[in-house]
Amino acid sequence: MLDLRAQHATIHDEVVSAMMEVVDSQLFILGAPVERLERQVAELSHTKYAIGCASGTDALLLALRAIDAGPGSEVITSPFTFFATGGTIHNVGAKPVYVDIDPKTFNIVPEAAAAARTSRTKAVVPVDLFGQMAPIEQVMTALPGLPVIEDAAQTIGARRSIDGVWRMAGEVATIGTFSFFPSKNLGGYGDGGMMVTQDEGLATRLKRLRMHGGAKEYFHDEVGYNSRLDALQAAVLSAKLPHLARWSDARRKNAKFYDAALAGVPGVTTPYVDPANESIFNQYTIRVDRRDDLRNHLKSRGIGNAIYYPLPLHLQPCFEYLGYKEGSCPEAESAAREVLSIPIYPELTDAQKNEIVDAIRGFYGR
Ligand SMILES: Cc1ncc(COP(=O)(O)O)c(C=O)c1O
Repeated sequence: MLDLRAQHATIHDEVVSAMMEVVDSQLFILGAPVERLERQVAELSHTKYAIGCASGTDALLLALRAIDAGPGSEVITSPFTFFATGGTIHNVGAKPVYVDIDPKTFNIVPEAAAAARTSRTKAVVPVDLFGQMAPIEQVMTALPGLPVIEDAAQTIGARRSIDGVWRMAGEVATIGTFSFFPSKNLGGYGDGGMMVTQDEGLATRLKRLRMHGGAKEYFHDEVGYNSRLDALQAAVLSAKLPHLARWSDARRKNAKFYDAALAGVPGVTTPYVDPANESIFNQYTIRVDRRDDLRNHLKSRGIGNAIYYPLPLHLQPCFEYLGYKEGSCPEAESAAREVLSIPIYPELTDAQKNEIVDAIRGFYGR
């Protein structure tokens, strides 16, 4: 699915020398490398503030805490996402409220989110799935006055045209959250995450929450977490960031190739990108007939593939207490049955892409 060694080989010297600078400084927690990355990510996402933290999961957790989501409150989100989106809502003590997705983009339907709003609703968490932004401005219009936490874990550097202006992932939300998990377009050499916001008060609170809730060491205004971004990870990510646009471009080119090569293959639906969006294609996800058989066929040829996600969050055993049933979010459920992600990483060779396409076409007799 992903060959991280192929990418590392192209940037070995710059990344290793950035890491060695941190090693030689012996300053491992926060500090200059983290502040530098925070400035770079704020610039990229057109935001005033960026705050590094330990993971994309923690970025969501801290963001939810910063807008005071907790016991007694509800948070509306998509069930067709990585577990962390719902898990963090639960972990701050709030109730996850799952609403269905658009079957074409896999992102939240603003009208469905609006219909789920109650007097207890504290926030909405649109997820920018697979690399394209959710219709965030429509979510904001449909749920006026509600804080929006944009789960942009998969979408750093993606953009969306809103009223004729390009807006970056994380830019217009109350808080945007990123993940630097190694498989992301901007992946660290370990875990990492970041939150972005235009709001000074929220930025101050997020900084406090990542350091046990204290503005000053050993004095605690509230109970926070140990969720700092490691200086080594920040150094790696700062070295990688100048390559991100080129890598995302290569992924878009690979997507175009697949779109053309798989067009018209019966049993295969290629990804739909909302015309307002520029996707960074963290994943290239097709919908297919006879998925299990196709997977076996690909496996027998040594071709990587993955199912993101096989079981929507509203049907996870841990959320049984919420009372959802099969059929509660039919589009998310049918997506879970049909999706298949195939390799899209920038270093894929033409021969590899051709092999992948030939295998899929061959399976469907084309
Ligand atoms: C949509 C989404 N949300 C949250 C996360 C959590 O990020 P992390 O793995 O860095 O904790 C991920 C990535 O794994 C993700 O894809």
